[in-house]
Amino acid sequence: MLKYINIVFVCLLFSCSNNSNKQENLMQITWTNSIANIIHSNCTPCHRPNQSGPFNLLSYSDAVKKAKLIKFVTQTGYMPPWPADANYTHFVGERILNDSIKLLIKKWVDEGCKYGDSLITINPPEFNEFSNYRKPDLIIKLKEAVKIKGNGTDAFYIIKFPYQIDKDTIVDFVEFVPQQRKLVHHVNGHLVSYDENRKFNYQNGVQINVDETKNLLSVYKEMNIPYIDNLEPQFPTLTPNTVYYLPGYLPPNYPDEVGGFRLKKNGMFLLNNIHYGPSSKDCEDSSYLNVFYRKTPIKRAIKETQLGTFGVSKIEPAFFIEPNVIKTFTTQLTLTQDISLLSVNPHMHLIGKSFWAFAYLGKDTIPLIKINKWDFKWQYYYTFINPLKIPKNYTIKVIGTFDNTKQNPNNPFTPPKLITNGNGVESMKTTEEMFQFIFTYMPYKNGDENISLEN
Ligand code: HEC
Repeated sequence: MLKYINIVFVCLLFSCSNNSNKQENLMQITWTNSIANIIHSNCTPCHRPNQSGPFNLLSYSDAVKKAKLIKFVTQTGYMPPWPADANYTHFVGERILNDSIKLLIKKWVDEGCKYGDSLITINPPEFNEFSNYRKPDLIIKLKEAVKIKGNGTDAFYIIKFPYQIDKDTIVDFVEFVPQQRKLVHHVNGHLVSYDENRKFNYQNGVQINVDETKNLLSVYKEMNIPYIDNLEPQFPTLTPNTVYYLPGYLPPNYPDEVGGFRLKKNGMFLLNNIHYGPSSKDCEDSSYLNVFYRKTPIKRAIKETQLGTFGVSKIEPAFFIEPNVIKTFTTQLTLTQDISLLSVNPHMHLIGKSFWAFAYLGKDTIPLIKINKWDFKWQYYYTFINPLKIPKNYTIKVIGTFDNTKQNPNNPFTPPKLITNGNGVESMKTTEEMFQFIFTYMPYKNGDENISLEN
């Protein structure tokens, strides 16, 4: 009996592998039958002229030239860049290759990068050079270009983009269009709105300021940001985080019932700050802003809350990362109302190791985001596919681990030294640390779960 089972088992195995061999022969993996499509949809958006990717992946020959590297970065999951664990939660625009696609790429490269049917030509997809969306309603450009020194170090600037429009208008979203795409690393900007009944001079003054450790208030004064009538408050209204950019980031284009904000006649977008990676030669950057208007009034404004550094919840234990340790911190907030969570933005600097956020009440947990291997280079605002309801009394808990040992290749200090929040603006410096969880939400309404946030 045992013998019989064994024979059947062996036959099964044998015929099974025979079958799959036949299938493989029938379906040879080629550029024309599968790989072009995979590359064009997952890689070309960044790997094309004037984008962040360091080389083009448009044509068959582009891909063949980099074949070994493509196999390596896709098998290891390094490309396309998507640090969030897709086994934990899904987000709009998720950039993940599933195992069968990875296998196709591997086989294609191992089998010598076959072209396939020579009668078929495949053109790369067409992209709009000036926007990832439609034609913008307002384009705000700098009066002078940013001068970047070719000294091989990171540079941080505070830049204002003043505008004046005919009347107050509702904005859908703002798209930052980087010009020096290989250098612009991240952008964080706010909307500054002036009350027409006050006196201001924001169109003049310094446009571009180096973001150093000098007093931020004096920087704002040099840039003519405060009102000039000596009344209180001295500063105009600030709507935070209305402009955001990182390589590969696209601003969420929410449906009409969600979000939108008011653009007053007089105001500016204040990039506070913009970070350029090291450049080996002197160059100029004329990045600009595309502003998209909304025809309908604001129905449900979006709110934003920040946990951890600069935020509403304290970090535990106190945020000191001693040299030669791997240390874990937590920060948490209990909700006082039902909310519909729209997007989450985990933030750490160079020695970040992992990041995990979830909401819980008793034994019930709602997964939010998990980043198993933190990478300073890729920090997105992750938008949920549908608003995620988190009921009142649930606690949002964030756990972050930092690696301040010399084994961490991203440690900015050798030998490692004590790393903390820094003081005030200083904490923005890459070499200081931050542990921050920003999220956007609306007060919950019945049916929010059914709204699609995909654009
Ligand atoms: C979000 C934009 C983006 C997407 C999408 C993207 N890349 Fe990249 N890629 C980059 C950037 C930026 C770099 C350079 C920075 C780096 O190496 O970390 C890069 C680097 C690379 C490198 C060089 C790595 C090295 O170590 O030299 C390869 C190879 C690569 N990408 C292949 C791919 C492939 C294949 C895909 C699609 C499966 C892809 N990329 C998708 C932005 C992207």
